[in-house]
Formats: sequence, C-alpha cells, structure tokens
Amino acid sequence: MALLEKFRRVDEARQALARTGADPFRVTFERVLSPTEAVVNGRRMILAGTNNYLGLTFDPECVEAAAKAVREYGTGTTGSRMANGSFNGHLLLERELADFYGRRWCVVFSTGYLANLGMISVLTGPGDVILIDTDCHASIYDGCRMTAAEVIRFRHNDVGDLDKRLKRLGERRVNTLIIAESVYSMLGDLAPLAEIVALKRKHGAFLLLDEAHSLGLLGTRGRGLSEEVGVEDEVDFIVGTFSKSLGATGGFCVSDHDEMELTRYASRPYIFSASPCPSVIASTRAALRILHSRPELRAQLWSSARGLYGRLRDMEFSLGPEPSPIIAVLFDRTEEVIAFWNGLFERGVYVNMILPPAAPNGASLLRCSVSTAHTPDQIQQIAEAFASVKASVPSSPAADV
Ligand SMILES: Cc1ncc(COP(=O)(O)O)c(C=O)c1O
Repeated sequence: MALLEKFRRVDEARQALARTGADPFRVTFERVLSPTEAVVNGRRMILAGTNNYLGLTFDPECVEAAAKAVREYGTGTTGSRMANGSFNGHLLLERELADFYGRRWCVVFSTGYLANLGMISVLTGPGDVILIDTDCHASIYDGCRMTAAEVIRFRHNDVGDLDKRLKRLGERRVNTLIIAESVYSMLGDLAPLAEIVALKRKHGAFLLLDEAHSLGLLGTRGRGLSEEVGVEDEVDFIVGTFSKSLGATGGFCVSDHDEMELTRYASRPYIFSASPCPSVIASTRAALRILHSRPELRAQLWSSARGLYGRLRDMEFSLGPEPSPIIAVLFDRTEEVIAFWNGLFERGVYVNMILPPAAPNGASLLRCSVSTAHTPDQIQQIAEAFASVKASVPSSPAADV
C-alpha cells in the first residue's frame, strides 16, 4: 500500500460523518462569550463539553495575570528549559504545586499529554513492568509505547484482576509501575483507589495516578481523589493537567521520591519540547490560588453535576455508572448518537460526540462536562434540550456500563 493510501479510509469515515451534518472537526468557536457560552458555527451555544470545570478561563485574576505576564515576559519561551533555561514563573509554579500537594518535588510539562509521556518513559525501561487499567487515557498508552518495559493491562477498575497479575509477576513486582486514573475521562467513573493502594503496598510496586479530571474537583483542598480517599502518601507519582479545572494548558507531576528531580535530565518529552509560555504559567498560578481559596466552587460544581445527572437519569437515559462532572450518555448505535448530537447542536447545546474506538468497550456516547459557571438556568436548558431531542429521535437505550 502506498504511503498515503491509508488516509482513504479516514476520508471515507470523515465524509460519512459530514453527510450526517455532524462533523465535530468543523466546529468553530467564532466568539467565546463566557466559560459556558460561545458563538459556534454562527450560532449562540451553551457549552457543555469543555472540561472547564471551575469556569476559570474568564476569571479576572487569571486573565489579568496572563496579560501582565505577556507584557513583562513576551508571548512565548521559544525553547525548552534544558536548552534555553527556565523563566521565574516555571520555578515558582513548580514550588507552588509541590506545596499545594505537600510534596517535595514537582516537574512542569508543556501539556498533560506530555506529562504522561515524560513520566512513563523516564520511570520505566527494559526489565520493568507497567500494569495499566484498560480504560486509561491515550496519553498513558502512548507513554507506554515510548518504553521498553513490558506493558500488561488489567480489567477496568477490577482490583481482583490487578492482584492476580501482580502475583504472577513474582520478584518483578518491585519493578512494576501501576497506572490508573482518578476520574475516568469518558464515563466519569472513579477508581477504587483505596484498594489499588492496598495492593501496591502489599506487592511492593509503585503507583502513578493521573488526576487530570479530579484536580479541583475532589478532596477538601481540591487535590483530587487521593486526598478525598486519604491515601495521598501512598501514591508515588501524581500527574495532572492545567487544561481542565485550571483553565489553561500544561501538565505536571509531583512526588516525594528524590529521583523525581533527576527525571528532568532524562525525560525526552520534557527536554525536547518548548516550555509553557509565560501567560499560561501566570494564569495557572492564579487559578491554583483560586482553587485553594474558594472551595465553594467545588461544592457548586458537584451540586450542578448531580442535578443534571439526576435529570437525565429520570428521563431514562443510559448514563455512566455514577454522578460526576463528566456525564456520559450512552447509545447503542452510532447513527443514534450522531442524530442526538445534531439535535442538541440545533437546540444550542454543545457536547462532545465520542465515537468508537475512543470510548471504552467501543461505546458511542455523548460526553457532557459540567462547570461551576453553568447557571441553574443553563443546566435546565441543557436538560430540556436532551428531553426535546429524545422526543424527536427514535431511540434504543444502551445497556448500563
Ligand atoms: C486522563 C487524562 N490525562 C491526560 C490528558 C492530557 O491532558 P492535556 O490536555 O493537558 O494534554 C487528558 C486530556 O484529555 C486526560 O483526560
């Protein structure tokens, strides 16, 4: 097959999608009016698929911090920290994140994707083993592709399966990195973290936890599921992102292992990518302060998330297993999810359309993400749009996941 022939299949799939009127790649945010509203393809929409959990993208303190940093430091860093050096802001943010988590070390990456690549590829190598939850994010899978370690998947959230696989490893258990997420990004379900931690301790393995969708959402101080469950000391490496509750772009890893500081010298995604720009660092620092000082944002978020989940459940939609700010609405057939996405779009509600193979078990789903910034009226409008589309689209509800 000639080099570019493989794109023919991609083009066919893209054209088939475009014929239905639903092509998420053609969605253009022409104006962003607030964290929850934008003009999309010429239409004013409520945004319910943004990961903007705490609604901080327009927070005046974050905006002002970013603007000031651009004026003082310019628009970009134009190089990696290894080659070009660090800006003050990088060091300050790393110190602030380490303090926030009560950890000794923090390394900041240019995206959350790179944080997973950078940490997994640097922590593991020939002779090591990675045990990864099957539902982990693509960035975790891609990190596994960058290492010579053996990669073994365990069934999603199945601690019995994890235990069995750890036992089979024998002496290699101490060379094993277990990887899980806190809140899974597609279905919004939580990891059985206390049990995972108990197994890690029992077998003498290491644990890397991706808290991308729980930073700012869970825990008394917003540090995530490990804080909520009270097992922070047992998680060796916590990876997170600035692109969700912190409203910017970038990623990080915190740890108490002193080797963490050495990873900078060997992590290719850290070394060979330009460091985050000054405005991003500044707005992230401001967002972190807000996350810390305004716990009421979390309470509001969960109240709205539970409210919308309850409304959709009452309408007999098939939903992800538990209420969380990620609400997955599941469908049996791809055509149905496309029709639904179109219907919501026409009614001024934007959600994420997830088609196979992106979601676990080849599911087709609409992924809603709730924000603190959604007003009760907007939550009502989102629920009403779902009800209205349901009345107009013949449905065959999927089995619960
Ligand atoms: C669980 C998880 N980890 C990592 C990432 C990557 O984060 P970023 O968007 O900052 O690259 C995502 C993004 O969707 C995610 O859901």
